[in-house]
Amino acid sequence: MDHFEYRDGALYAENVPVADIVQRFGTPTYVYSAATLSRHYRVFDDALAGIDHDICFAVKANGNIGVLGVLADLGSGFDIVSVGELERVITAGGDPARVVFSGVGKRVDEIERALEVGIACFNVESEAELACIDALAQRMGVVAPISLRVNPDVDAQTHPYISTGLKENKFGIAIDRAEALYADAAVRAGLAPIGVDCHIGSQLTTLSPFRDAVGRVLDLIDRLAGRGIELSHIDVGGGLGVCYRDETPPTPAEYASAIADMLGDRPLKLILEPGRVLVANAGILVTRVALLKPGTAEDDKHFAVVDAAMNDLIRPALYAGWHRVVPLQMNTHGGQTRSWDIVGPICETGDFLAQGRELTLAAGDLLAVRTAGAYGFTMASNYNARPRAAEVMVVDDAMHEVRARETLADLMRGERRLPFS
Ligand code: LLP
Repeated sequence: MDHFEYRDGALYAENVPVADIVQRFGTPTYVYSAATLSRHYRVFDDALAGIDHDICFAVKANGNIGVLGVLADLGSGFDIVSVGELERVITAGGDPARVVFSGVGKRVDEIERALEVGIACFNVESEAELACIDALAQRMGVVAPISLRVNPDVDAQTHPYISTGLKENKFGIAIDRAEALYADAAVRAGLAPIGVDCHIGSQLTTLSPFRDAVGRVLDLIDRLAGRGIELSHIDVGGGLGVCYRDETPPTPAEYASAIADMLGDRPLKLILEPGRVLVANAGILVTRVALLKPGTAEDDKHFAVVDAAMNDLIRPALYAGWHRVVPLQMNTHGGQTRSWDIVGPICETGDFLAQGRELTLAAGDLLAVRTAGAYGFTMASNYNARPRAAEVMVVDDAMHEVRARETLADLMRGERRLPFS
Protein backbone atom coordinates (compact mmCIF):
# COMPACT_ATOMS: atom_id res chain seq x y z
CA MET A 1 0.00 0.00 0.00
CA ASP A 2 1.22 3.50 -0.76
CA HIS A 3 0.06 7.06 -0.25
CA PHE A 4 -0.16 8.17 -3.89
CA GLU A 5 -3.81 8.28 -4.88
CA TYR A 6 -6.33 10.22 -6.92
CA ARG A 7 -8.78 12.61 -5.31
CA ASP A 8 -11.34 14.17 -7.67
CA GLY A 9 -9.15 13.17 -10.58
CA ALA A 10 -5.96 14.74 -9.23
CA LEU A 11 -2.95 12.70 -8.09
CA TYR A 12 -1.98 13.33 -4.48
CA ALA A 13 1.12 12.42 -2.52
CA GLU A 14 -0.33 12.00 0.98
CA ASN A 15 -2.27 15.28 1.43
CA VAL A 16 -0.45 17.30 -1.20
CA PRO A 17 -1.61 17.58 -4.81
CA VAL A 18 1.42 16.53 -6.85
CA ALA A 19 0.68 19.40 -9.26
CA ASP A 20 1.40 21.82 -6.37
CA ILE A 21 4.84 20.27 -6.00
CA VAL A 22 5.47 20.84 -9.69
CA GLN A 23 4.34 24.43 -9.40
CA ARG A 24 6.93 25.03 -6.70
CA PHE A 25 9.83 22.84 -7.82
CA GLY A 26 9.31 22.24 -11.54
CA THR A 27 10.02 19.03 -13.45
CA PRO A 28 11.51 16.49 -13.60
CA THR A 29 11.21 15.89 -9.86
CA TYR A 30 11.32 12.81 -7.69
CA VAL A 31 8.57 12.88 -5.08
CA TYR A 32 8.75 10.62 -2.02
CA SER A 33 6.09 9.93 0.57
CA ALA A 34 7.39 9.71 4.13
CA ALA A 35 4.24 7.88 5.29
CA THR A 36 4.73 5.23 2.61
CA LEU A 37 8.37 4.81 3.55
CA SER A 38 7.48 4.42 7.23
CA ARG A 39 4.68 2.03 6.45
CA HIS A 40 6.90 -0.20 4.34
CA TYR A 41 9.59 -0.23 7.00
CA ARG A 42 7.09 -1.10 9.74
CA VAL A 43 5.42 -3.87 7.71
CA PHE A 44 8.83 -5.41 7.08
CA ASP A 45 9.92 -5.01 10.69
CA ASP A 46 6.61 -6.33 12.07
CA ALA A 47 6.90 -9.38 9.82
CA LEU A 48 10.11 -10.21 11.69
CA ALA A 49 8.70 -9.70 15.17
CA GLY A 50 9.74 -12.59 17.37
CA ILE A 51 12.97 -13.15 15.44
CA ASP A 52 16.21 -11.55 16.62
CA HIS A 53 16.84 -9.37 13.59
CA ASP A 54 18.40 -6.22 12.20
CA ILE A 55 17.17 -4.46 9.08
CA CYS A 56 20.05 -2.84 7.18
CA PHE A 57 18.53 -0.77 4.37
CA ALA A 58 20.55 -1.06 1.14
CA VAL A 59 21.58 2.56 0.60
CA LYS A 60 22.23 1.99 -3.09
CA ALA A 61 18.47 1.82 -3.66
CA ASN A 62 17.99 5.39 -2.42
CA GLY A 63 20.75 7.34 -0.73
CA ASN A 64 18.97 10.66 -0.28
CA ILE A 65 19.76 12.10 3.16
CA GLY A 66 16.07 12.82 3.75
CA VAL A 67 15.11 9.23 2.96
CA LEU A 68 17.95 7.80 5.07
CA GLY A 69 16.97 10.14 7.91
CA VAL A 70 13.39 8.83 7.97
CA LEU A 71 14.68 5.25 8.05
CA ALA A 72 17.29 6.03 10.72
CA ASP A 73 14.57 7.56 12.90
CA LEU A 74 12.54 4.39 12.47
CA GLY A 75 15.50 2.41 13.79
CA SER A 76 16.94 1.08 10.56
CA GLY A 77 20.53 -0.01 10.12
CA PHE A 78 22.21 0.29 6.72
CA ASP A 79 23.99 -1.79 4.09
CA ILE A 80 26.62 0.25 2.28
CA VAL A 81 28.96 -0.39 -0.64
CA SER A 82 31.21 2.66 -0.50
CA VAL A 83 32.60 5.28 1.83
CA GLY A 84 30.30 7.74 0.08
CA GLU A 85 27.31 5.75 1.26
CA LEU A 86 28.84 5.53 4.75
CA GLU A 87 29.18 9.31 4.97
CA ARG A 88 25.60 9.69 3.76
CA VAL A 89 24.39 7.39 6.53
CA ILE A 90 26.36 9.29 9.16
CA THR A 91 25.14 12.66 7.86
CA ALA A 92 21.56 11.39 7.92
CA GLY A 93 21.89 10.42 11.59
CA GLY A 94 22.33 6.68 11.07
CA ASP A 95 24.34 4.66 13.58
CA PRO A 96 27.67 3.41 12.15
CA ALA A 97 27.51 0.51 14.61
CA ARG A 98 24.47 -0.70 12.66
CA VAL A 99 26.20 -0.61 9.26
CA VAL A 100 27.26 -3.61 7.20
CA PHE A 101 29.69 -3.04 4.34
CA SER A 102 29.25 -5.10 1.16
CA GLY A 103 30.98 -4.84 -2.23
CA VAL A 104 33.60 -6.65 -4.28
CA GLY A 105 36.15 -3.84 -4.44
CA LYS A 106 36.48 -2.04 -1.12
CA ARG A 107 39.39 0.40 -1.20
CA VAL A 108 41.96 0.80 1.58
CA ASP A 109 40.69 4.27 2.52
CA GLU A 110 37.14 2.95 2.63
CA ILE A 111 38.07 0.06 4.92
CA GLU A 112 40.04 2.41 7.17
CA ARG A 113 37.14 4.81 7.53
CA ALA A 114 34.75 1.95 8.28
CA LEU A 115 37.12 0.63 10.96
CA GLU A 116 37.51 4.11 12.40
CA VAL A 117 33.76 4.62 12.86
CA GLY A 118 33.26 1.05 14.09
CA ILE A 119 30.82 -0.53 11.65
CA ALA A 120 28.95 -3.71 12.59
CA CYS A 121 30.43 -6.01 9.96
CA PHE A 122 32.40 -6.24 6.74
CA ASN A 123 30.82 -8.58 4.21
CA VAL A 124 34.03 -9.91 2.69
CA GLU A 125 33.88 -10.95 -0.95
CA SER A 126 37.35 -12.39 -1.68
CA GLU A 127 40.47 -13.89 -0.15
CA ALA A 128 42.46 -10.82 -1.11
CA GLU A 129 40.00 -8.57 0.73
CA LEU A 130 40.19 -10.79 3.81
CA ALA A 131 43.95 -10.37 4.01
CA CYS A 132 43.71 -6.65 3.38
CA ILE A 133 41.16 -6.02 6.15
CA ASP A 134 43.23 -8.12 8.54
CA ALA A 135 46.38 -6.11 7.82
CA LEU A 136 44.64 -2.74 8.11
CA ALA A 137 42.86 -3.69 11.33
CA GLN A 138 46.11 -4.88 12.91
CA ARG A 139 47.86 -1.69 11.87
CA MET A 140 45.07 0.36 13.46
CA GLY A 141 45.09 -1.81 16.59
CA VAL A 142 41.49 -2.95 16.19
CA VAL A 143 39.70 -6.17 15.37
CA ALA A 144 37.44 -6.11 12.31
CA PRO A 145 34.12 -7.95 12.60
CA ILE A 146 33.68 -9.89 9.40
CA SER A 147 31.36 -12.24 7.61
CA LEU A 148 32.13 -13.97 4.34
CA ARG A 149 29.73 -13.22 1.53
CA VAL A 150 29.29 -16.65 0.06
CA ASN A 151 28.10 -17.32 -3.42
CA PRO A 152 25.63 -20.19 -3.06
CA ASP A 153 25.31 -20.79 -6.83
CA VAL A 154 21.55 -20.31 -6.92
CA ASP A 155 19.56 -18.97 -9.86
CA ALA A 156 17.53 -16.00 -8.65
CA GLN A 157 15.31 -16.15 -11.76
CA THR A 158 15.46 -12.44 -12.32
CA HIS A 159 17.01 -10.18 -14.98
CA PRO A 160 20.59 -11.38 -15.64
CA TYR A 161 22.03 -7.95 -14.81
CA ILE A 162 20.60 -8.11 -11.30
CA SER A 163 21.39 -11.76 -10.58
CA THR A 164 24.33 -12.11 -8.25
CA GLY A 165 24.25 -15.60 -6.72
CA LEU A 166 25.46 -17.73 -9.59
CA LYS A 167 28.98 -19.12 -9.78
CA GLU A 168 29.53 -17.15 -12.97
CA ASN A 169 28.79 -13.84 -11.18
CA LYS A 170 31.63 -11.77 -9.73
CA PHE A 171 30.10 -11.66 -6.26
CA GLY A 172 31.07 -13.46 -3.10
CA ILE A 173 33.25 -16.46 -2.31
CA ALA A 174 32.38 -19.88 -3.70
CA ILE A 175 30.55 -21.64 -0.93
CA ASP A 176 32.81 -24.70 -1.12
CA ARG A 177 35.85 -22.46 -0.42
CA ALA A 178 34.23 -20.77 2.56
CA GLU A 179 35.02 -23.34 5.22
CA ALA A 180 38.76 -23.13 4.64
CA LEU A 181 38.63 -19.34 4.61
CA TYR A 182 36.74 -19.19 7.90
CA ALA A 183 39.42 -21.39 9.43
CA ASP A 184 42.03 -18.97 8.10
CA ALA A 185 40.11 -15.90 9.31
CA ALA A 186 39.67 -17.40 12.78
CA VAL A 187 43.42 -17.36 13.40
CA ARG A 188 44.11 -13.88 12.07
CA ALA A 189 44.63 -11.35 14.86
CA GLY A 190 42.86 -8.54 13.02
CA LEU A 191 39.67 -10.42 12.23
CA ALA A 192 36.68 -11.65 14.19
CA PRO A 193 34.49 -13.88 12.03
CA ILE A 194 31.02 -13.24 13.44
CA GLY A 195 28.63 -14.05 10.61
CA VAL A 196 27.95 -15.25 7.13
CA ASP A 197 26.32 -13.34 4.31
CA CYS A 198 24.72 -13.96 0.93
CA HIS A 199 22.76 -11.92 -1.59
CA ILE A 200 21.57 -13.71 -4.68
CA GLY A 201 19.88 -10.99 -6.70
CA SER A 202 17.24 -8.34 -6.85
CA GLN A 203 13.53 -8.15 -7.73
CA LEU A 204 12.93 -11.78 -6.79
CA THR A 205 9.27 -12.71 -7.09
CA THR A 206 9.30 -16.23 -5.65
CA LEU A 207 10.56 -17.70 -2.41
CA SER A 208 12.32 -20.76 -3.74
CA PRO A 209 15.67 -19.12 -4.63
CA PHE A 210 15.79 -17.56 -1.15
CA ARG A 211 15.04 -20.97 0.39
CA ASP A 212 17.76 -22.65 -1.68
CA ALA A 213 20.34 -20.03 -0.78
CA VAL A 214 19.53 -19.88 2.93
CA GLY A 215 19.52 -23.69 3.08
CA ARG A 216 23.03 -23.85 1.64
CA VAL A 217 24.28 -21.12 3.95
CA LEU A 218 22.79 -22.83 7.01
CA ASP A 219 24.55 -26.07 6.03
CA LEU A 220 27.79 -24.12 6.00
CA ILE A 221 27.04 -22.60 9.42
CA ASP A 222 26.38 -26.08 10.82
CA ARG A 223 29.58 -27.46 9.32
CA LEU A 224 31.56 -24.56 10.78
CA ALA A 225 30.00 -25.10 14.20
CA GLY A 226 31.22 -28.71 13.94
CA ARG A 227 34.76 -27.31 13.56
CA GLY A 228 34.36 -25.03 16.55
CA ILE A 229 33.71 -21.86 14.55
CA GLU A 230 30.51 -20.43 16.00
CA LEU A 231 28.93 -17.63 14.01
CA SER A 232 26.38 -15.35 15.61
CA HIS A 233 24.52 -13.99 12.61
CA ILE A 234 23.27 -14.87 9.16
CA ASP A 235 22.82 -12.02 6.68
CA VAL A 236 20.43 -13.01 3.90
CA GLY A 237 20.95 -9.87 1.81
CA GLY A 238 18.10 -8.11 0.06
CA GLY A 239 16.26 -8.95 -3.10
CA LEU A 240 12.58 -9.15 -2.26
CA GLY A 241 10.69 -7.93 -5.31
CA VAL A 242 7.90 -5.38 -5.68
CA CYS A 243 4.96 -4.99 -8.00
CA TYR A 244 5.78 -2.75 -10.97
CA ARG A 245 3.10 -4.14 -13.24
CA ASP A 246 1.44 -7.44 -12.37
CA GLU A 247 4.12 -9.27 -10.43
CA THR A 248 2.99 -10.98 -7.24
CA PRO A 249 6.10 -11.13 -5.06
CA PRO A 250 5.90 -12.82 -1.67
CA THR A 251 4.72 -10.50 1.10
CA PRO A 252 7.22 -9.51 3.78
CA ALA A 253 5.31 -11.82 6.14
CA GLU A 254 5.65 -14.81 3.78
CA TYR A 255 9.31 -14.00 3.20
CA ALA A 256 10.04 -13.64 6.92
CA SER A 257 8.25 -16.81 7.90
CA ALA A 258 9.99 -18.84 5.20
CA ILE A 259 13.36 -17.72 6.55
CA ALA A 260 12.34 -18.14 10.19
CA ASP A 261 11.22 -21.72 9.48
CA MET A 262 14.60 -22.51 8.02
CA LEU A 263 16.56 -20.96 10.89
CA GLY A 264 14.72 -23.21 13.31
CA ASP A 265 16.08 -22.91 16.83
CA ARG A 266 19.63 -21.99 15.87
CA PRO A 267 20.78 -19.08 18.07
CA LEU A 268 21.44 -16.82 15.09
CA LYS A 269 20.66 -13.17 14.63
CA LEU A 270 19.08 -12.51 11.24
CA ILE A 271 20.37 -9.54 9.26
CA LEU A 272 18.49 -8.40 6.15
CA GLU A 273 19.52 -5.86 3.53
CA PRO A 274 16.27 -4.85 1.83
CA GLY A 275 16.42 -1.97 -0.63
CA ARG A 276 13.73 -1.95 -3.28
CA VAL A 277 10.91 -3.35 -1.14
CA LEU A 278 11.19 -0.43 1.30
CA VAL A 279 11.50 2.48 -1.12
CA ALA A 280 10.35 1.61 -4.66
CA ASN A 281 6.68 2.37 -4.16
CA ALA A 282 7.42 5.31 -1.88
CA GLY A 283 8.61 7.37 -4.85
CA ILE A 284 7.42 8.69 -8.19
CA LEU A 285 9.17 10.63 -10.92
CA VAL A 286 7.13 13.56 -12.17
CA THR A 287 7.69 14.80 -15.69
CA ARG A 288 6.05 17.15 -18.17
CA VAL A 289 5.15 16.35 -21.77
CA ALA A 290 7.30 18.71 -23.83
CA LEU A 291 5.70 17.91 -27.17
CA LEU A 292 3.91 15.20 -29.09
CA LYS A 293 5.22 13.50 -32.22
CA PRO A 294 2.34 11.32 -33.37
CA GLY A 295 2.98 9.12 -36.37
CA THR A 296 1.05 9.58 -39.56
CA ALA A 297 1.07 6.15 -41.18
CA GLU A 298 -0.91 3.18 -39.85
CA ASP A 299 2.07 1.38 -38.33
CA ASP A 300 4.00 4.48 -37.19
CA LYS A 301 5.05 4.90 -33.60
CA HIS A 302 3.61 7.76 -31.59
CA PHE A 303 6.12 9.56 -29.40
CA ALA A 304 5.41 11.74 -26.40
CA VAL A 305 8.63 13.58 -25.62
CA VAL A 306 8.88 14.37 -21.92
CA ASP A 307 11.41 16.35 -19.89
CA ALA A 308 12.66 13.36 -17.89
CA ALA A 309 15.01 10.93 -19.58
CA MET A 310 17.19 7.88 -19.18
CA ASN A 311 19.67 9.98 -17.22
CA ASP A 312 16.94 10.45 -14.59
CA LEU A 313 15.59 6.89 -14.60
CA ILE A 314 17.71 4.32 -16.40
CA ARG A 315 15.80 1.17 -15.41
CA PRO A 316 13.74 0.89 -18.63
CA ALA A 317 16.87 1.25 -20.79
CA LEU A 318 19.14 -0.94 -18.70
CA TYR A 319 16.93 -3.78 -17.49
CA ALA A 320 13.86 -3.45 -19.70
CA GLY A 321 12.24 -2.23 -16.48
CA TRP A 322 8.51 -1.56 -16.73
CA HIS A 323 7.11 1.40 -14.81
CA ARG A 324 3.48 2.45 -14.72
CA VAL A 325 2.95 5.94 -16.17
CA VAL A 326 -0.11 7.88 -15.06
CA PRO A 327 -1.40 11.43 -15.62
CA LEU A 328 -1.34 13.89 -12.72
CA GLN A 329 -4.79 15.05 -13.75
CA MET A 330 -7.34 12.61 -15.14
CA ASN A 331 -9.85 13.40 -17.90
CA THR A 332 -9.25 17.08 -18.35
CA HIS A 333 -8.90 17.86 -21.97
CA GLY A 334 -9.19 16.88 -25.54
CA GLY A 335 -5.71 15.42 -25.83
CA GLN A 336 -4.83 12.73 -28.33
CA THR A 337 -5.54 9.15 -27.33
CA ARG A 338 -2.91 6.85 -28.76
CA SER A 339 -0.52 4.12 -27.78
CA TRP A 340 2.37 6.39 -26.84
CA ASP A 341 6.06 5.75 -26.38
CA ILE A 342 7.10 8.04 -23.52
CA VAL A 343 10.60 9.15 -24.50
CA GLY A 344 13.17 11.62 -23.21
CA PRO A 345 15.19 14.23 -25.12
CA ILE A 346 18.47 12.27 -24.97
CA CYS A 347 20.19 11.26 -28.18
CA GLU A 348 19.83 7.51 -27.68
CA THR A 349 17.21 5.17 -29.04
CA GLY A 350 17.25 3.49 -25.62
CA ASP A 351 16.05 6.73 -24.05
CA PHE A 352 12.49 5.82 -23.15
CA LEU A 353 10.61 5.64 -19.88
CA ALA A 354 7.77 3.53 -21.22
CA GLN A 355 6.57 2.11 -24.53
CA GLY A 356 3.15 1.51 -26.02
CA ARG A 357 1.04 3.12 -23.30
CA GLU A 358 -2.58 3.94 -24.02
CA LEU A 359 -2.89 7.52 -22.74
CA THR A 360 -4.70 10.73 -23.68
CA LEU A 361 -2.00 13.35 -23.92
CA ALA A 362 -1.47 16.97 -24.86
CA ALA A 363 1.73 19.01 -24.77
CA GLY A 364 2.25 20.44 -21.29
CA ASP A 365 0.55 17.53 -19.50
CA LEU A 366 2.13 16.24 -16.33
CA LEU A 367 2.84 12.55 -15.83
CA ALA A 368 3.99 10.44 -12.92
CA VAL A 369 6.26 7.44 -13.39
CA ARG A 370 5.34 5.12 -10.55
CA THR A 371 7.49 2.81 -8.43
CA ALA A 372 10.53 5.03 -8.99
CA GLY A 373 11.76 5.35 -5.40
CA ALA A 374 14.35 2.58 -5.75
CA TYR A 375 17.31 2.76 -8.16
CA GLY A 376 15.86 5.95 -9.63
CA PHE A 377 17.77 9.00 -8.49
CA THR A 378 20.70 6.91 -7.23
CA MET A 379 21.39 5.78 -10.80
CA ALA A 380 20.86 9.22 -12.34
CA SER A 381 23.64 10.82 -14.35
CA ASN A 382 24.41 14.07 -16.09
CA TYR A 383 24.47 12.52 -19.57
CA ASN A 384 23.80 15.08 -22.31
CA ALA A 385 24.73 17.75 -19.71
CA ARG A 386 21.40 17.44 -17.99
CA PRO A 387 21.24 18.66 -14.39
CA ARG A 388 19.87 15.98 -12.08
CA ALA A 389 16.28 16.28 -10.90
CA ALA A 390 15.04 17.79 -7.64
CA GLU A 391 13.93 15.44 -4.87
CA VAL A 392 10.99 16.36 -2.67
CA MET A 393 9.65 14.50 0.36
CA VAL A 394 6.01 14.87 1.31
CA VAL A 395 5.07 14.56 4.96
CA ASP A 396 1.29 14.72 5.34
CA ASP A 397 0.34 18.15 3.92
CA ALA A 398 3.87 19.56 3.71
CA MET A 399 6.48 19.32 0.98
CA HIS A 400 10.19 19.41 1.76
CA GLU A 401 12.91 19.81 -0.82
CA VAL A 402 15.37 17.09 0.20
CA ARG A 403 17.67 17.77 -2.73
CA ALA A 404 17.68 20.90 -4.84
CA ARG A 405 17.64 20.55 -8.59
CA GLU A 406 21.19 20.78 -9.94
CA THR A 407 22.13 24.02 -11.64
CA LEU A 408 24.14 24.52 -14.81
CA ALA A 409 26.99 25.72 -12.59
CA ASP A 410 26.82 22.40 -10.68
CA LEU A 411 27.34 20.62 -13.96
CA MET A 412 30.69 22.28 -14.56
CA ARG A 413 31.95 22.35 -10.96
CA GLY A 414 35.61 21.39 -10.82
CA GLU A 415 36.16 21.53 -14.58
CA ARG A 416 38.42 23.98 -16.33
CA ARG A 417 40.12 24.74 -19.61
CA LEU A 418 43.76 23.77 -19.99
CA PRO A 419 45.94 26.49 -18.41
CA PHE A 420 47.81 27.25 -21.60
CA SER A 421 44.94 27.37 -24.05
N1 LLP B 1 22.53 -6.27 -0.58
C1 LLP B 1 23.42 -6.34 -1.58
C2 LLP B 1 24.75 -6.89 -1.30
C3 LLP B 1 23.07 -5.90 -2.87
O1 LLP B 1 23.96 -6.00 -3.85
C4 LLP B 1 21.77 -5.38 -3.10
C5 LLP B 1 21.39 -4.91 -4.42
C6 LLP B 1 20.88 -5.29 -2.01
C7 LLP B 1 21.28 -5.76 -0.77
C8 LLP B 1 19.50 -4.74 -2.14
O2 LLP B 1 18.72 -5.47 -3.03
P1 LLP B 1 17.16 -5.13 -3.18
O3 LLP B 1 16.48 -5.47 -1.87
O4 LLP B 1 17.01 -3.71 -3.51
O5 LLP B 1 16.73 -6.01 -4.28
N2 LLP B 1 19.74 -1.29 -10.17
C9 LLP B 1 18.98 -2.52 -10.20
C10 LLP B 1 19.08 -3.30 -8.91
C11 LLP B 1 20.51 -3.61 -8.51
C12 LLP B 1 20.59 -4.29 -7.19
C13 LLP B 1 22.01 -4.38 -6.74
N3 LLP B 1 22.17 -4.95 -5.45
C14 LLP B 1 17.54 -2.20 -10.56
O6 LLP B 1 17.21 -1.04 -10.74
O7 LLP B 1 16.73 -3.12 -10.69
